[in-house]
Amino acid sequence: MKNNNFYITTPIYYPSGQPHMGHAYSSIIADVFARFMRNDNYNVYFLTGTDEHGLKIQKAAEKENLEPLIFCNQISKVFKDLTKSLNLSNDDFIRTTEKKHHISVTELWNRLVKSGDIYLSKYKGWYSVSDEAYYNLDEIVEKNGKKYSSFSGSIVEWVEEESFFFKLSAWQNKLLDFYDKNKDFIIPYSRRNEVVNFVKSGLKDLSISRTSFTWGIKVPNNDKHVIYVWLDALTNYLSALNFPNTNDKLYKNFWPASLHVIGKDILRFHAIYWPAFLLSANLEPPNRIYSHGWILSGDEKMSKSKNNILNPLEIIDNYGIDQLRYYLMKEVSHGSDGNISLKSLENCINSDLANNYGNLCQRVFSFIKNNCNNVVNRTKIITKSDKLLIDETNKLTKNLRLEMNKQNLNQYIKSVIDISFLTNKYINDEEPWKHKKQDIERMNNILSLALEQIAKISILLNPIIPKASTKVLEALNLKNQSRNLSFLDGSNILSDKIKINELNILFKKII
Ligand code: MSP
Repeated sequence: MKNNNFYITTPIYYPSGQPHMGHAYSSIIADVFARFMRNDNYNVYFLTGTDEHGLKIQKAAEKENLEPLIFCNQISKVFKDLTKSLNLSNDDFIRTTEKKHHISVTELWNRLVKSGDIYLSKYKGWYSVSDEAYYNLDEIVEKNGKKYSSFSGSIVEWVEEESFFFKLSAWQNKLLDFYDKNKDFIIPYSRRNEVVNFVKSGLKDLSISRTSFTWGIKVPNNDKHVIYVWLDALTNYLSALNFPNTNDKLYKNFWPASLHVIGKDILRFHAIYWPAFLLSANLEPPNRIYSHGWILSGDEKMSKSKNNILNPLEIIDNYGIDQLRYYLMKEVSHGSDGNISLKSLENCINSDLANNYGNLCQRVFSFIKNNCNNVVNRTKIITKSDKLLIDETNKLTKNLRLEMNKQNLNQYIKSVIDISFLTNKYINDEEPWKHKKQDIERMNNILSLALEQIAKISILLNPIIPKASTKVLEALNLKNQSRNLSFLDGSNILSDKIKINELNILFKKII
């Protein structure tokens, strides 16, 4: 990470069909990290976009009887709209059909040529259009007379054509050395081991151009060849920063990228090809690749070709975006595949959002409205039970930055929701309503600590449930510039005289 700058990306989406829950999942994870880092006072640049070249898109456009660019314009917009529906806080939405991207890819290609890593030959082997990936013979299985990739299950076809190759084999030892020196380059570690073992087993040179179709960026000075869509697509991370203009402020501030969030299906491209291309071009590789698991439907990866798609837009309409974001981040375990269902979504909304955090906010705000005219004064007294809650909270917040830094979202959320649980329990035990008549000071004391806890929990949950948490922070009259994580050193967030506004119901219980 350069100074205080944090550059985070999602994979850019193939605009070949409608967005599904897997896309939503990848994007929300990245958004949560982006928002967390912003709240922690980092200068964040968050990128997403669409991957518009290659045979897969050309074929999808042909199916619709549309010119590829017209087709891409339409579907790219659907993905751009998705960023709004998911409440993503991206700073840019890149399209690989943009001119600046074309310039960037051409420069990267020229650099690889200059390094002596590109040569012309012939590719003979298996190719999956759906994955836009080449597969070795030992990665192919046969079922009912058809050949499939054993890795992704996608159908493969035999390809024989003239192609430029990248000397990936020459990078094998340098990559192993790089992984060794950068132990946290691939997270989780199980994935890191997979990659290291794959590289150790031997790398073959990689075909990086195609001649049998036209939809893509042409190889410089050779119109017959279109640049391999993965070399093209990966470069988006650079073109968004206006590479090759290395004096550009964005490039200077944000390269190398801090974190590429990707699904495990595209790990090989990001963790092997990408650093090899960058090292060959004399550019620094990103700091980290975080590879999440798949959202499953039944036991299968959710995908258009398998027709088992849960539509994120329908879920957002029916349950709400914060609800979907919270559920995906809490319930799908770090780095593993996760089976999702409406039943578990509803249970999660009820137990954590409606009954726990939502209830905590509602009961405290409405009590203060009804009994204190919306104003609470902090007192200097700290009782044993107050101290216990403060200490327990500090214990739970102690490792939160570390958990986020390890991309361990589940543990992060668990700790924060535990704070909410403890605060609800504190109110039950301390019974502020009992002090209404005889001990106003104690009542104020309890309520001010409860509000302080609510402010902390809301800031901590803000990256995950931005809408609801912002409502609470606004109702607490907490200024934007105070909604950051500096309280993690143990200090208070709210002033001594806390004036609140009315808070409407945050999460409806699902019956
Ligand atoms: N265009 C490439 C990425 C290029 S990045 C330089 C691509 N696009 S994609 O639209 O197929 O997938 C985008 C992201 O969604 C990937 O991270 C992929 O892993 C993720 N998901 C797609 N289906 C998924 C699930 N069912 N579950 C979780 N994520 C999966 O790959």
